[in-house]
Amino acid sequence: MTTFDLKDRVAIITGGGTGIGKATARLFAENGANIVIAGRQLERLEEVAKSISEDTGQRVVAIQTDVRDEDQVQALIDGTIAEFGKLDILINNAGGAYMFPTKDMPPDRFRNSIELNLTSAYLCSRAALPHLLKSDNAAIVSMSSGAGVTGVKGGAAYSAGKAGLQMFTRVIAAEWGPKGIRANAIAVGAVASEGALRSWERFGMDADSMGENNPLRRVGWPIDIANGALFFVSELSSWITGQTLSIDGGPGGMGGIADADLWSEDNE
Ligand SMILES: NC(=O)c1ccc[n+]([C@@H]2O[C@H](COP(=O)([O-])OP(=O)(O)OC[C@H]3O[C@@H](n4cnc5c(N)ncnc54)[C@H](OP(=O)(O)O)[C@@H]3O)[C@@H](O)[C@H]2O)c1
Repeated sequence: MTTFDLKDRVAIITGGGTGIGKATARLFAENGANIVIAGRQLERLEEVAKSISEDTGQRVVAIQTDVRDEDQVQALIDGTIAEFGKLDILINNAGGAYMFPTKDMPPDRFRNSIELNLTSAYLCSRAALPHLLKSDNAAIVSMSSGAGVTGVKGGAAYSAGKAGLQMFTRVIAAEWGPKGIRANAIAVGAVASEGALRSWERFGMDADSMGENNPLRRVGWPIDIANGALFFVSELSSWITGQTLSIDGGPGGMGGIADADLWSEDNE
């Protein structure tokens, strides 16, 4: 029988301390996986790990990691293997939108956005590869964005990074598919995560206004994306690889932000 069952599988979820990553970690644990959540803010990660573990009975471990740093990414993989002895699933979820009109975007901000939203997935996938090769059911899911499909004004680096992530996914799917590793991406629409709510507020938007333009007339919630990630790592998608699935309430759902004159001083 093919199912959503993740029993005995081990998953790393980057950015698992908040928003989409946290919802994905909880959903995977509810379906039987043991989990490593990674991010920079250890205290928050540890609280989330404890809460998911208590609620689901699964083992959930927090490992402090900056996904832009090759050595820290290797330590994340090594720590996972030390804890669980194997790795089956990698969710490249850590990321963020740094919005600047292109003419005003300092080069270091551009580079940082590409490192966070694209290079990090390469570093994590490459470091995970030797262990994913040993899994009999290996899957990678990377969180791209609608901004990487349509482009967003103010998001030259972010949109390019997220579009690059979709092509990165296609290439590793082709290279690693014959070895039993599937790779897919999700083009995330407007989802009311902690990070998104903070940045929408800067542009005078909120969950209601961000949801009003898509065909389904509501903003997304982190669980909407976690559900897609569960499909992509489960047996139900065992003949699907190299794809990007838009989960966004339907076409045209980017809301007013696509036309906003975006500038943020504090978008670190
Ligand atoms: N929400 C949306 O509307 C939306 C739309 C399109 C795409 N997405 C994508 O979905 C993914 C999840 O976003 P979210 O909405 O859940 O936002 P979020 O709540 O801001 O989550 C982002 C996570 O990434 C982690 N992170 C950021 N920089 C990192 C770094 N250098 N190293 C390790 N971890 C890092 C953060 O944890 P720490 O601060 O602890 O490091 C945080 O847990 C992102 O890739 C985002 O671009 C979201």
